[in-house]
Formats: sequence, C-alpha cells, structure tokens
Amino acid sequence: MAIPEQFIDELVARNEISDVVSSYVTLTRKGGNLWGLCPFHSEKTPSFSVSADKQIYHCFGCGKGGGVISFIMEIENLPFPDAVRLLAQRAGLAMPETGENEGYRRRRERLLALNKEAARYFHRQLQSPQGAAGAAYLFEKRKLSRGTVTRFGLGMAPDSWDSLINAMAELGYDKRDLLDAGLAVDSKKGRIYDRFRNRVMFPIIDVRGDVIGFGGRVLDDGTPKYLNSPDTSVYNKSRNLFALNIAKKSRLGRMILTEGYMDTISLHQAGFDCAVASLGTALTAEHAQLLARYTKEAVIAYDGDGAGVAAAQRAIPILERTGLKVKVLRMAGAKDPDEYIKSYGREAFARLLDQSENHIEYRLRQVRQRYDLADDAQKVEFLREAVGVVASLHSAVEREIYGGRMAAEAGVAPEAMALEVKKELSRRLRQEKKKQERRDLTPAAQLQPKSRGLRYENMRSARAEEGVIRLLLLDPALFAQTGELEATQFSAPVLGKIYGLLQERRRTGLSTQLASLASALEPEEMSLAALVLDQPEDLSRSGQALHDYIETIRTEALRRAEGDSPGALLAAREKYRETKGYGG
Ligand code: UTP
Ligand code: MN
Repeated sequence: MAIPEQFIDELVARNEISDVVSSYVTLTRKGGNLWGLCPFHSEKTPSFSVSADKQIYHCFGCGKGGGVISFIMEIENLPFPDAVRLLAQRAGLAMPETGENEGYRRRRERLLALNKEAARYFHRQLQSPQGAAGAAYLFEKRKLSRGTVTRFGLGMAPDSWDSLINAMAELGYDKRDLLDAGLAVDSKKGRIYDRFRNRVMFPIIDVRGDVIGFGGRVLDDGTPKYLNSPDTSVYNKSRNLFALNIAKKSRLGRMILTEGYMDTISLHQAGFDCAVASLGTALTAEHAQLLARYTKEAVIAYDGDGAGVAAAQRAIPILERTGLKVKVLRMAGAKDPDEYIKSYGREAFARLLDQSENHIEYRLRQVRQRYDLADDAQKVEFLREAVGVVASLHSAVEREIYGGRMAAEAGVAPEAMALEVKKELSRRLRQEKKKQERRDLTPAAQLQPKSRGLRYENMRSARAEEGVIRLLLLDPALFAQTGELEATQFSAPVLGKIYGLLQERRRTGLSTQLASLASALEPEEMSLAALVLDQPEDLSRSGQALHDYIETIRTEALRRAEGDSPGALLAAREKYRETKGYGG
C-alpha cells in the first residue's frame, strides 16, 4: 500500500526523534548531541547518539543509524508500513484511508475550512461584548486602524474554555477536527478545551490565501506572551512566513524581515507592505528560500537587543545562501520596529531603511563597537579582529574595499592592512590543507562503510560524494547549486542512489530530510546515510565546499571514463572551471 509522502513528512515532523528514542533508551546531553547505550548492540560506554538538529540517530559502535521511522523499524522489528502506523498512533494522527492521497487531500481541505471558520469567528467576536477587551487592546492600546484589523483578519478568543468548540460544533466540526487543527487541546480525560482563551488572535495565512494557523497574544503581561498553533497537517512553522500573502504583492522591491506579528503589522499600517515575520522560531533555510521566490533583497529588522542582534547574525548566512542581497537595519532609540514607528514616525523608518547596511558593514560595525580606537592596545586588537572578518570575505574586491575602510578607521596604511589580510588568508589555507591531509591519512579501512556490500571503489570520489549528500541534507537551499551533477557520475552506487532519490524528491516538491527516505533505502544504506550526515561540516562556506566536491566527483568520473587519459581530463577540467568558476 502506498502511504502518501505528505503524510510521512507530517509523521516525521510530529515524532521528535529524541522523544521517541527516549522511551527506549536513557539519553544524556553531551555537547550538541544526546548519548546513550546502544539498543542494537551490547556495550558499556555510550556510543549511540541522537541529534535533534538533524533528526537522526547513529551508533558509532555498530554503525546503525537513520531517522525516526528507521529507528522504530529496527527496534520493534517492524516493516515500514507498521512502523508508520505505530508512529501515527503515537502522535495521534489518523492513518490516511485507502485511496490515500485523495483521503489525505480531503482531510487537509476540511482542516483548512475549519481554520477559516475559526478565523471568522474570532474576528466577529471583536464586535461583540465578549470581545470588547480585545477590541480595546488592538484599537486603543496598539493603535491599529479598522482597516489594518480587517486586512489582517485579527480577532479575539473569548475568555472561555469551550466557546470556539461550541461555535464550530454548530458548523459540524467534531473533536477530532478541532484537535487535528490545533484549535483544541486534549484534557487526557477524554475531554477537549479551547487552546486559545482570552487572547487577541492573529491568523497565519499562506501564499495561497488559506488560514493555516494562529498566534494569540495575552492582553496583559501574562505568559506565554504569544501562543502559537502547533505544527499540523496544514501548518509547519519552519516553512511559512507571516504576512507573506500580502507582502508578495508589494511593489517596494524588497522584503523586510521582522521578529513578530506586531512589528510586521505596524510596518504594514505605516505603508511598508513588504514586511513579513518568521513566527516563534529562528529563520530556517526553507523560510529563506520562500522569501527568495518573491524578492531579491531582504532587510533584516529584528529587535535591537542582544537576542535580536544574535538572531540577525544567524539569519545573514542563511539568507545569503539563497542568493538574496542581505541588509541589516540599524535601529537606535526603540526596542523594535513597532515601537520605532510609534515614537519617530514612518519617514524616520523610511530613512533607516535607506541607510540599512549591507551584511559586511554590519559585521564590521559589530566588531568596531567593542573597541576604543583612541587606545593603542585596543586598536591593535580591533585590527586583528577586523582582519579576520575581511579575510573571510569571498571576493578579492570586497576584501580590498572593506580592508581599506577598516585601515582608514584605525588610521593605518591600507597596504599594511592588505598585508595582514594576505597573511591571514594563507594561514587559513594552510590550516585547511592540514585538515585535509589529516583526513587523508586516516586508515582507509576506517573510512569504508561498515557493510561490506557497500564498500567504496574510489575513495577520493566517495568522500566528495558523501560531502554533496551531507550538504544537501543540511541545507536544501544548496540543491539550486548542484548544476548538472548526476547520480550516474557517482562512483559509489549507494551514494548515487541516495543522491538520485534526493534530487527526485526535490523536483517533485517532497521533503528531502533523511527520515523520509526510510522506505526507499535498505537499513544498511540508511545507516550509511546517517553516518555521512553525522560528520562535521562547516556550513559557513557551503557554496564553495559544494563546488569543490562536485569538481572532485566530475574529475574522478572523467578519469574513470577516459582510462586516465590526462589530455582529455585537463581540457575538461579547464572547461568546467571556466563555466562554473568561483573568482576571487
Ligand atoms: P517579542 O517578545 O519581541 O514580542 O516576540 P513583540 O513582537 O514585540 O510583541 P508585542 O509588541 O509585545 O506584542 C517576537 C515574536 O516571537 C514570538 C512571536 O511570534 C512574537 O511575535 N513569540 C514571542 C512567541 O511565539 N511566544 C512568546 O511567548 C513570545
Ligand atoms: Mn513589540
């Protein structure tokens, strides 16, 4: 029986791997991962690790590994469909009926219709006595206009345990519907109650115009300040941006990325109809790709506090990797864009927007702020750190411009700065080379897959093939940069198979996380994939790394095809360099 892929994706999203594994293995945190005694082989010291980031498990002892479905198949000794059924039960998901895709689609449509009715209900409450407090909050306290409240479909959830449940029951929606939509919560005694109570409501609407979830804010300073819909079969917080349904039609030529509902709405009310927000979660690669579909330039307008600055610094490379031009808004005198506009007005914000710095200026200013340049010792430290930032820039032109600027700032000759940058660059290159050598020196046996049937013929190419797969699993935005690389160019059949599967899933819009490949890969193949994904990878230069891996794979493929004829090889290499060349 074919289980729809969308269902598998939801199943994986709703079964957090560390939760699932924890019911079988005692896990303790060490470094970024969780560790425990491997349930698949006998051992006294833990070599079994679970990564919440990557949603995989992997045992360094016996080599078993995979995603959450593979784990259940292995530990319960179940075939794929039964493991799926078990996990569905665990997450309270109804298995799709036969004629699955159709059933699944109908279910989604029902939940979307329910969400729309709920949004209408909340919105209507603003006009009723039950919702008076919400109306006062939005109109008076937050100074929103009627037009804004209508445009965003804002509403109020009454101070009651069951008013939404009752209103929706009248329209024919039952307990199961409300739970699946995340609008009600199970009391564990078989009863359900309204998730959102006494909160102003912000419907989250996707680019197709469907209401997919909600955020609800308290009217006072209770906690949590915002309550959000959980991920459901129609809502995934890592893949949706608030207000993108409106912002995608903006003519302002860029998108403003904020931290929350109110900042975004305030900006729209002030005429900046290109504002969006990632909600209750840090910016993901999927958010960035979504944004890149509608604009070429993103301006980060996060809060001015420490957390906001840190979040901006994390968001920059994620946005950059999609090819977006990234700028950062510099806001002083207010906590967030909402307050800034309230205090200084829309013209002032427009000026901020025009002065927003590109991401390099932003990073360098963060460095400059920490030093007093009148003090010689601090000046030296400042230059040392600035050299580090400048050396990390990819193009020679950028290095020259920003190096010169930093030199002027500190009152040293640009040539001196350039020399230091050059030294730093060659130091990094040497380090990189050493690391490579160390990798190459590891005994080949250790680098071979555990399973004999999967042994690598061409180690150099296989390493690069692993690299490509790892990068794609870690950052799906990189699929756009795989160019003409094909599975047939892979030297290791197993790695070619994984690469082919990922490309195919990408093409057809399915999720490309490792856990979703559980039915397509044999257990040994899955274990190998988990091992590959668990190796360290420096994502800060992922574009360059991908390029290098691909070049290695192509070179090795050519070498094999041409039986080591060096002339043809060199020519092909040169040609590839010309077309795909990374300058600088
Ligand atoms: P902030 O705490 O910065 O709130 O959270 P804000 O946007 O300034 O809200 P107001 O102005 O007080 O109303 C930023 C975003 O983080 C998420 C929400 O999406 C919020 O908009 N958040 C915050 C939560 O999901 N839960 C919380 O408890 C707090
Ligand atoms: Mn705020």
